[in-house]
Amino acid sequence: MSNGIPELKQFDEASLDAAFSQVRADAERSAAEPNLDREQFRLDWLGRKQGRLKAISDAWLKAAPVEAKKLIGQRFNELKQQVEALVDESAATAVKVEVRSLDISLPGSAHRPGAEHPLTKTMNELVSVFERMGYSVGIGPEVETDFLNFESLNFPPNHPARDTQDTLVLADQEQKPLRERLLMRTHTSPVQIRTMLAQDPPLRIVIPGKVHRNEAQDATHSPMFHQVEGLCVDTNITFSDLKGTLDHAMKSLFGSSMKTRFFPSFFPFTEPSADVQISCPFCNGKGCRKCKHSGWIELLGCGMVDPNVFKAVDARRIELGLEPKYDPAKISGFAFGMGIDRMTMMKYSVSEIGLLFSGDTRFLSQFA
Ligand code: DAH
Repeated sequence: MSNGIPELKQFDEASLDAAFSQVRADAERSAAEPNLDREQFRLDWLGRKQGRLKAISDAWLKAAPVEAKKLIGQRFNELKQQVEALVDESAATAVKVEVRSLDISLPGSAHRPGAEHPLTKTMNELVSVFERMGYSVGIGPEVETDFLNFESLNFPPNHPARDTQDTLVLADQEQKPLRERLLMRTHTSPVQIRTMLAQDPPLRIVIPGKVHRNEAQDATHSPMFHQVEGLCVDTNITFSDLKGTLDHAMKSLFGSSMKTRFFPSFFPFTEPSADVQISCPFCNGKGCRKCKHSGWIELLGCGMVDPNVFKAVDARRIELGLEPKYDPAKISGFAFGMGIDRMTMMKYSVSEIGLLFSGDTRFLSQFA
């Protein structure tokens, strides 16, 4: 061996392979050294004047008999590519090391933890009040059939009550019977029906969710908003149970000094129906801007489940091959529904409903 280059005495393929792989192994070993100086490595191997490859070319290629030059030349070119690749790889590792090195004088990257959306907060608070009273929680789809959103809830086809809940209807469904046509649900009430189709009485359930209506957007209206629905069915459920339950729920949410009052109202699926007002939690009923100086705020709708709803449920249960269990002569129930967006806006003094859906972190971070 002279200047680190093995001597080459024979020029058959096996001898050439052995000699070249020995050199390659040498190159690999030095490229893998922990404190490799990349530039030095490049000069040692590829340097034009003193590089090992130059020495190999001189010792092996130039000195070889003519007939062996081709074989040596091929291997030499391969070796050169391999060594160049080693130089490139060592460059890549060098860059990686630079990136990983830690400059503790730089400002840290702050983790900005997320926060619950104010709507989710209100919804969770409300739902957990009912959970503590033994209610289970249900959800339903936002795309609903006409039957579940309207007909079963005692909105017959063409009934004027449907006008109060205009919505988007999926296109090209004219060939289907009306009750099967799909629409964006206008309230969470269809999940009452879904629950009664899936479960036998007695039941108590709260249902939070998104609803859609054909409403122009303004400061307090949005074509998409949120409701929490409630349903309780058992034997001997009376209007007093409804009043007691809602009064307790509102006191848990807004404080025990809060009062509720019930006014006659109309919903197709409840009879009798009522609107519920709470004494204004901002002025304790004295009158302020939030309650328009009346001392009261209207918060939800409710009523005793209309016997027609129970009848529609049982008729559908029979169609589905289930036992009818909702005979209005034997059971009764109450239901309620409330708008979560309005409640949230009131609670957090939000003046524009659109802010709740803007995804603007300047707005949302105030609730973190
Ligand atoms: N679904 C009604 C609406 O969107 C709200 C409602 C009122 C739900 C009374 C009820 C109820 O369950 O009993 O306007």
